[in-house]
Amino acid sequence: MKSILDFQLKKKKQQPISMVTCYDYGFAKIIEKSNVDTILVGDSVAQVIHGYPNTLHATTEMMALHTAAVAKGAPSKFIVTDMPFLTTRLSIDAVLSSVKQIMTAGAHALKIEGAQDALTVKHIVDSGVPVMGHLGLTPQSIHQLGGPKIQGKTQSQADKLLADALTMQDSGCFALVLECIPADLAQKISEQISIPTIGIGAGSHTDGQVLVLNDLLGMNPDFNPKFLKKYTDGYTTTIESLNTYVNEVQTKKFPALEHSY
Ligand code: KIV
Repeated sequence: MKSILDFQLKKKKQQPISMVTCYDYGFAKIIEKSNVDTILVGDSVAQVIHGYPNTLHATTEMMALHTAAVAKGAPSKFIVTDMPFLTTRLSIDAVLSSVKQIMTAGAHALKIEGAQDALTVKHIVDSGVPVMGHLGLTPQSIHQLGGPKIQGKTQSQADKLLADALTMQDSGCFALVLECIPADLAQKISEQISIPTIGIGAGSHTDGQVLVLNDLLGMNPDFNPKFLKKYTDGYTTTIESLNTYVNEVQTKKFPALEHSY
């Protein structure tokens, strides 16, 4: 996918959108060769790459640095980058400074959590920068939500999520991530808004899906939420490869003649 117009087209043609996170040049080069539609430089980078307990530790500088690396590795992919914790709540000058830093690093669009900053979202969109919304379980509000819990389970929460989705659409968002909400609610929202929805833990009726790359590659044996499908056991494969290497070093099987000058 090259632009936000392709997101709209995919929804119109009912072709599901595939999105994965990516944070570095090496994996970006691999994704570049894959059929993945679009990349998210998620603020999950703070956890996955930098080892923090949550996404609150992502900064504009961090997001810009990882965006630049990904943009170099995946020049043909549409790249969406998260606006980090609290950056949309600052003065409009400070917001635009973050926007500029991330967009000039190579992002094609930004993702913004929650509907509380709808006016700021509209200002960013009016400034020529595409914005993807993000509703449901919004990890930057993890403490306010009381933990990583399914959202929209009560009727009033569900009504609020639908209203928020319409607000984000009206603010000019070109797409909307729906995280950890009941599948029937995600379906209802997807049917009632005209922009594509991209789900994570939101069932099969959204217009696309997103997963954290390291999670779908099975790199973390301790992270097993119901919504996650691991497409390979990267954790075991990597440890086995490392141990085979160590064994071959110790037994002088590596390097062999063909690895020597
Ligand atoms: O930062 C991230 O990885 C995300 C996805 C979980 C949607 O926002």
